[in-house]
Amino acid sequence: MENKKGTGKTALITGASSGIGQELAKLFAQDGYNLVLVARSVDTLHRLAEVFELNYGTAQVTVIEKDLSEEDAARDVYERVQSKGIVVDVLVNDAGVGVHGKFANETDWEAEKSMIHLNVLTTTLLTKLCLRDMVARNEGKVLNLASLVSIMPFPLMTVYAATKAYINSFTQSLVNELKDTNVTITALMPNATDTDFFNKAGASDVLATDMVDDPVVVARDGYEALMSGKPKVVPGGLVNKAYEVMAYVAPQETMAGMMRYTLTPKSEIARKLDERKPLFWAVGIGLAAAAVTGITLAARNRRTLAAD
Ligand SMILES: NC(=O)c1ccc[n+]([C@@H]2O[C@H](COP(=O)([O-])OP(=O)(O)OC[C@H]3O[C@@H](n4cnc5c(N)ncnc54)[C@H](OP(=O)(O)O)[C@@H]3O)[C@@H](O)[C@H]2O)c1
Repeated sequence: MENKKGTGKTALITGASSGIGQELAKLFAQDGYNLVLVARSVDTLHRLAEVFELNYGTAQVTVIEKDLSEEDAARDVYERVQSKGIVVDVLVNDAGVGVHGKFANETDWEAEKSMIHLNVLTTTLLTKLCLRDMVARNEGKVLNLASLVSIMPFPLMTVYAATKAYINSFTQSLVNELKDTNVTITALMPNATDTDFFNKAGASDVLATDMVDDPVVVARDGYEALMSGKPKVVPGGLVNKAYEVMAYVAPQETMAGMMRYTLTPKSEIARKLDERKPLFWAVGIGLAAAAVTGITLAARNRRTLAAD
């Protein structure tokens, strides 16, 4: 099928093989963008390329298989794109992972180092390389996947939240540096979203997975904010906006406690509730006894007053 509304523009999307990145890729394809899709799951990327060509008539899909947590991965991706003569009009830094557990004695340093490389270093260098060209052309857009937890403490995913705080700060400073150009940069700040993210982070059983947003909605809100050049967007409904406000006004300690609860395994919460059952019973029986005594005394009092 011919691309009926082909823009001739190209969007480079890292992490396009699943979740939010895949939904974003779909939106770009629907709007007639050519695509450069980057991730490790090359078979999935090729399948996506076929679907986009078939369904939306996407003129050109370039697949790059790359582990973006490797040293100089961003430079390699950039050089491969350059060597094909592709101009990146939109850069989406979506690829990212999380690591769950207590920092001091549960998480693995190699996993954390790889996450920092992927979430922070690769995003930073790829942005630098693409932004330099965009500023020279005085045209372009960048979307960085931050997170709602980029503005709050997130115990049990401590290093992950720190990487996203970096991305948010990095993005908001660049918003200012770019304000006299036609280049825009946007931070997408999703709350917990229904993707494979928590499974891969080793947190499949946590409470947060019960309250997840739809990646289709997250991608749509991110795409719209990117296209209108907004500096940031918290996708989804009012609850997420309330979280954002709370993060700015509530004491950090309170936020930390609340957010830690969402990352606590459900089995642990159930066990703690079980341990406290005798206490709940004791308090319940005490309250019931106090109520019965109160009612009895009140009734006796009323009878005495009536007899008087
Ligand atoms: N889901 C949430 O609750 C949530 C909330 C806020 C922010 N976010 C952020 O949203 C972004 C997308 O996450 P998601 O929820 O869509 O999770 P996801 O479904 O697990 O997708 C992650 C994507 O990143 C790619 N990726 C991971 N490690 C990579 C590596 N070493 N090299 C290259 N690509 C790699 C994956 O591709 P391959 O495995 O094929 O390489 C995949 O395409 C992440 O930056 C995440 O931090 C997610």
